[in-house]
Amino acid sequence: MSETRYQVICEGGQVVAVTDHEQAQTARFHAIWLRDNAPDADTRSPSNGQRLIAIADIPQDIAVGSARVDDSNLIVDFMPEARSVAFDLAWLFANRYDTAPPTCQRGDVDDQTLLWDSGLGDDLPQADFSAVMSDDAALYRWLGDVVRFGFAFLSDGPVEDGALFRIIDRFGYVRETNYGRHFEVRSQVNPTNLAYTGLGLQAHTDNPYRDPLPTLQILYCLESSASGGDNMVVDGFAAAQRLRDENTDMFDVLADHCARFTYEGSADVSLTARRPLIQLAPDGQLVGVSFNNRSAAATTDVPFDKMPLFYQAIRRFAGIIDDPSMEVAFRLNPGDSFIVDNTRVLHARKAFSGSGSRWLQGAYADRDSLQSRHRVLAKQFA
Ligand code: FE2
Repeated sequence: MSETRYQVICEGGQVVAVTDHEQAQTARFHAIWLRDNAPDADTRSPSNGQRLIAIADIPQDIAVGSARVDDSNLIVDFMPEARSVAFDLAWLFANRYDTAPPTCQRGDVDDQTLLWDSGLGDDLPQADFSAVMSDDAALYRWLGDVVRFGFAFLSDGPVEDGALFRIIDRFGYVRETNYGRHFEVRSQVNPTNLAYTGLGLQAHTDNPYRDPLPTLQILYCLESSASGGDNMVVDGFAAAQRLRDENTDMFDVLADHCARFTYEGSADVSLTARRPLIQLAPDGQLVGVSFNNRSAAATTDVPFDKMPLFYQAIRRFAGIIDDPSMEVAFRLNPGDSFIVDNTRVLHARKAFSGSGSRWLQGAYADRDSLQSRHRVLAKQFA
């Protein structure tokens, strides 16, 4: 690189403008932002990358005395500290914030999210259990599917009590709850006894009454001799966008007001949480969907005049979620399992018929460790 590629202009000591002629781009950076993000050894630990300063350690009158390009770095001399810091130019342009305002429409998703519906068909994101257990490249691909699709299938694992923990151990940690480290989903199907009719369950996200809620769930099949009882998943983000595109007012009322959820199923537990059914970041990006009919509590956070619209919106949102064109169904045979991003993908069980038994084990985990593992593996396999 040479200085002719870059042009640097200091604007009154408060702003540095860097032009990359080769890429035909200019980015401006404030003095306070540059000082805050300085990579020198006094500001960031060379060993772990953690910041060593607080905002109060930066002078209020921080300014740039001079700035110049040296090889692949921007050298900035700060005042009044008399500190000279080298910024990698590629890092600076990768972290530029001097861009056009984002054109994110409320309910849009980030670039890595792939929305889906029944059109996914048999093209499930899936992998073989033993490959994911033994091969980091296969694990990387499978975790990438979870990141992009919000769910992934894993086939042909051992039919062993607790095998689901081996999956979680590959990327993170079990999220223990009042249900224990795992829970049993066991059904005996006997048509003569209405208590065990194997009713279907509407698509839902789990445990919205927790704060924070578990962000991943794994369901692992150990026994499946009943006919029916297929599992299915629905992309909550695709459902939310469909609601938005059909009726903006309905989308907005679900995004702008909290619903309430509760679980007091045993004497020693009283869980409550409130969150919108459709959760948006401040810039409007869709970041979460919670939908669970069984744990809904009285809604008290919607203004009186909007309550009828709120109920219309829930009814329509439920209708979209229940629309077969949104669902992807699959059968879990013993040794098969699937993982869902519980902040996005709803899961359901279809009704059983005939006789037989069905035994699944479920456990929760958290998405941050899965994403961390995926990012670390990306350095090797991306
Ligand atoms: Fe569930």
